[in-house]
Amino acid sequence: MHFTFRQLHIFESVARNLSYTRAAEELFLSQPAVSMQIKQLEDHIGLELFEQIGKKVFLTEAGKELYHYSQKMFRELNEAKDILWEIKGGNQGTLTIAVATTATYFALHLLGCFRERFPRVNISLDVANRESLLKRLDENTVDMVIMGKPPDSEEVIAEPFMENPLVVVAPTHHPLAKRKKIPLELLLKETFILRERGSGTRSAMELFFSKLNTTIPSSIEISNNEAIKQAVQAGFGLGIVSQHTLEKELTLKRLLILDVDSFPIMRYWYIVHRENKRFTALQQAFKDLVIQESKELINGTTFQINPELG
Ligand code: PGA
Repeated sequence: MHFTFRQLHIFESVARNLSYTRAAEELFLSQPAVSMQIKQLEDHIGLELFEQIGKKVFLTEAGKELYHYSQKMFRELNEAKDILWEIKGGNQGTLTIAVATTATYFALHLLGCFRERFPRVNISLDVANRESLLKRLDENTVDMVIMGKPPDSEEVIAEPFMENPLVVVAPTHHPLAKRKKIPLELLLKETFILRERGSGTRSAMELFFSKLNTTIPSSIEISNNEAIKQAVQAGFGLGIVSQHTLEKELTLKRLLILDVDSFPIMRYWYIVHRENKRFTALQQAFKDLVIQESKELINGTTFQINPELG
């Protein structure tokens, strides 16, 4: 079986786009040239890689297998390219990271610091829920992940680098706003705005209430931190969110943190990568910065329960 790198490159583009036209545009080729290369590749392999049903292009079983391995191969090649760049002396390369939705609030700050130091770095940032983050780690499509609850697998290295306090937020006019040490029983009478299933914040909340032998009281589900804060502001209920999401609302006095017994729920942020990941110097520099820079963030964190409580 003999085929060329160029054919594989064209195959990868058609398979990713599931379109000969889009692949041709992407590769600056004519569509007949793309079709011819795919035909030659199929002839070399002796199997069909695509099937066309109506106007739609699908991968055959052989096509799916080849797509899986070609993606793997191109990832490795990109890694090799980055390492070769470094050997040539350029602080150039790609950093591919994925972060939990809630972590975006500080991850962008960390990435900003990183780009100041390495202005020629290309950054790819994926914001996703825990389930997708685990998949990306498993498929080795990211260099590092920032998440609240690392997987239990021995194949990953997870280092905690910053506290992640979950607090109860309320609109400023809420009847409990001025109370100190609010007992949990009172909280159970409230409506809560919850994150979606699969969110780390949500599962921490569920765990918290299950330890109290109760379930989350009346609730409204919203899959977005910003929308949750707006719903709380509008009086739909209380929220339990990471303190990292609240900087603006606390400064502008749009929301306040209630002084509730047993709160905050203390969690941690982890930087996670596969155990056998071979980092370029640039990727290692990012990991070091996260661990270094977050220490400053921790020191700078002041925990603001409703300031009027004194
Ligand atoms: P999330 O945050 O709620 O945005 O998924 C991750 C976590 O806290 O584990």
